Amino acid sequence: MFVQSNIVAAGSALREKWCALPQKIYSGRPIDKGYPMKRREFIRDIAAAGAGVFVFRSASKIFAQTVPGRIEILMDEPLGTISPNIYGHFTENLSGVIYDGIWVGENSKVPNVGGIRKELIDEMKKINPAIVRFPGGCFADSYDWRDGIGPVDKRPRRTNFWNGGEKPGAPDAHRYDPNRFGTNEFVQFCRAIGAQPYLAANLRSLPAQEFNRWIEYCNSPRGSTTLADMRAAAGFKDPFNVHYWGVGNESWGCGGNFTPQEYAVEYRRFTAWAPGYPGADLSFVASGPNDDKWDWTRGFLEEIVRKGKNEVRGIFGLALHYYAWNLSRGKTSDWNRGKGDAVNFDVVDWYELLRQGDVMESLIKGHWLAMGEFDPEHHIKLVVDEWGPWYKPGSELTPGDQLEQLPTLRDAVFSGMTLDTFNRHPEKVGVGCCAQLINCLNSLYLAHEDRFCVTPVGHVFDMYAAHQGGTGLRTEFSAPAIHYDRDGQAASFWGLQGSASLHGKELVLTAVNPDVKNPIEAQIAIRGGRVKSGIATALTASDIHAHNTFEQRQAIVPTTAQIEIKGDTPVFRFPAASVAKLTLTLA
Ligand code: AHR
Repeated sequence: MFVQSNIVAAGSALREKWCALPQKIYSGRPIDKGYPMKRREFIRDIAAAGAGVFVFRSASKIFAQTVPGRIEILMDEPLGTISPNIYGHFTENLSGVIYDGIWVGENSKVPNVGGIRKELIDEMKKINPAIVRFPGGCFADSYDWRDGIGPVDKRPRRTNFWNGGEKPGAPDAHRYDPNRFGTNEFVQFCRAIGAQPYLAANLRSLPAQEFNRWIEYCNSPRGSTTLADMRAAAGFKDPFNVHYWGVGNESWGCGGNFTPQEYAVEYRRFTAWAPGYPGADLSFVASGPNDDKWDWTRGFLEEIVRKGKNEVRGIFGLALHYYAWNLSRGKTSDWNRGKGDAVNFDVVDWYELLRQGDVMESLIKGHWLAMGEFDPEHHIKLVVDEWGPWYKPGSELTPGDQLEQLPTLRDAVFSGMTLDTFNRHPEKVGVGCCAQLINCLNSLYLAHEDRFCVTPVGHVFDMYAAHQGGTGLRTEFSAPAIHYDRDGQAASFWGLQGSASLHGKELVLTAVNPDVKNPIEAQIAIRGGRVKSGIATALTASDIHAHNTFEQRQAIVPTTAQIEIKGDTPVFRFPAASVAKLTLTLA
C-alpha cells in the first residue's frame, strides 16, 4: 500500500492529510459525463429592460423567482489599498504543474517562449498576476536550489517529494525531477507574465547558509560574487532582486514537524543576518497556521517576541493555509472520507463547499486578533499563500496528474467569494496565492501537451483583476438568506456578498450570488457619489456543474452588458449561481 511512501516515512506525526493522501489518489473512477454541457444562453429580459435593467439569465432558470437585494457602497469609509499581491499564484513542482503545465521545453511542438508554454503566458498577462510562489508547498522543504541552476545538461535528477503519489507510468519528470526548470527559468516565467517571484526556502533539510546563498545567487550585484558570476554565465548579469522569501512551508507538518516554538527558533536563525543587497529589501514570510490553528499563531509569535518585542518588525508575513475539503455534511473529519467530488455533486454539496469557503473570513479575523496580541501595531501581514477547494481524485483532465481536479462554476463562485473576502480586509491580507495555478487543485488553467483551457476560476481572476491597487470601500450587502435541507437538518447560507474598490472615477463592485435557483435584483446605493454609467460582467451557466475542457474550452465564459441607471441608482440582477463584476463610472 502506498502509505509506505516517502510522504509517510517523513514522520509519523505528520498530519493525517499526508498519511492519508496517497491511498486514494488514483481511484480510477471516471467522471460522470452524464450531465448536459449546455452552452450558456444569456437572455435579455424584456420586462426588466423596460425598467431600465439588462439582466443575465440562463435559460433553465427562467421560472425562478427574482429576490430583492440591496448594496450600499460607503465612499467615505475606505478600508485601505487592495494589494495586487492578493491576486497571486502558487506553482509547486508537483505532478503536472511545472513539467507539462508551465514548462514544455524549447524544442517542444507546443508553442513556447524559451521553453515556457506560450498560451499560459498570454493568458496570464491578461490577469495581471502580481506574484507567484515557487517551488512549493511541501516540495520546497525537499529542494536544493543548487540542483536547478548551472548548465542544463549537468543538472542532477532527483526524486521528487511527490514521487510516492505518482501513478505507475507517470512521466519521468513527475517522479524524478530533471531540474530543467529551476530558479532562472522561474524568474524568466515571472518576467514573461509581469509577476514578482516569491521563493519558498527549504528549512527542513538544508542549513541556513544555503538559504543565504540562494539569496546571494538571486540578489548579489553583477560581478560581485561567485554566485553572481554563475548567474551571469546563465545569461542573467543583473540580479533577480527577489523580495519575497518563504522561510519553510507548513513547518508544523511536511516542513519539519516542528512545534511553533521550535519553528520560531529556526525562523530566527534562518533570517538573522540574511544578506541584503541594494534594490532587494527582503520580505520574509514565516510558515504559519493551517486553518484555525490559533495555537500555532500564538506559539510562534510568543517565542519570537521572547527575544524582544521589536523582533516582529523583521517579519513581513505569516502564511495561512486553508483548503475547503470536508463535504461530509458533518459526518466525518477523515481527510479521505470527508472529501467530495469536483464535478459530480448535488445542490447541498454546492452550499457545503461555499460554507467551507466562507470560513476564510473568520480565519483572517481570528488570526489577525491573535497576531495583535504580540504585534499590536500589526507589522506582520497575513499571507494566505495556499487556498482553494480540495476534492477527491477522479476528475483529472489528464489522467494520472496527481491532485489535478476539474474546476466548475462552483469553484468560480468559491474563488470570487474568497477574493472578495481578501478585498474586505486589505489592511490584514498582504499576499494571497491560489493553490494552484495550473493542473492542480483550484487551477486557473489546465494543460496537457498541446491542449489548454482556461477554467471558470481563471475567468474569475480575469474579472477581479480590476480591484488591484484600488481603495477598498466598506460595502453592505443584503439579500434574503438561502435555506436548504442538509440531510434532514435545516441549513442556511447568506444571499449576496462581495466587495468594492475605488480607482479614481471608477468604482469596481464584485459579488457572488450563491443561490442555485433565484436571481437577485439589487439596488446599488452609492453613498457619497453618483454613477454616470456602468458595465456588468457575469459568469454563470444553466448548469451548476459547468466547466471547460480541452474539447469545450468556451463552455463557460463571462459575458458583458451595459447597466442602465435608473435615476441615480444602478439596479442589477445578479443571476442565480453567479459571479459578477460591475464597473461603475462616477460623475
Ligand atoms: O498544494 C498542495 C500541498 O498542500 C502543498 O504542497 C502543501 O503546502 C499543502 O498542504
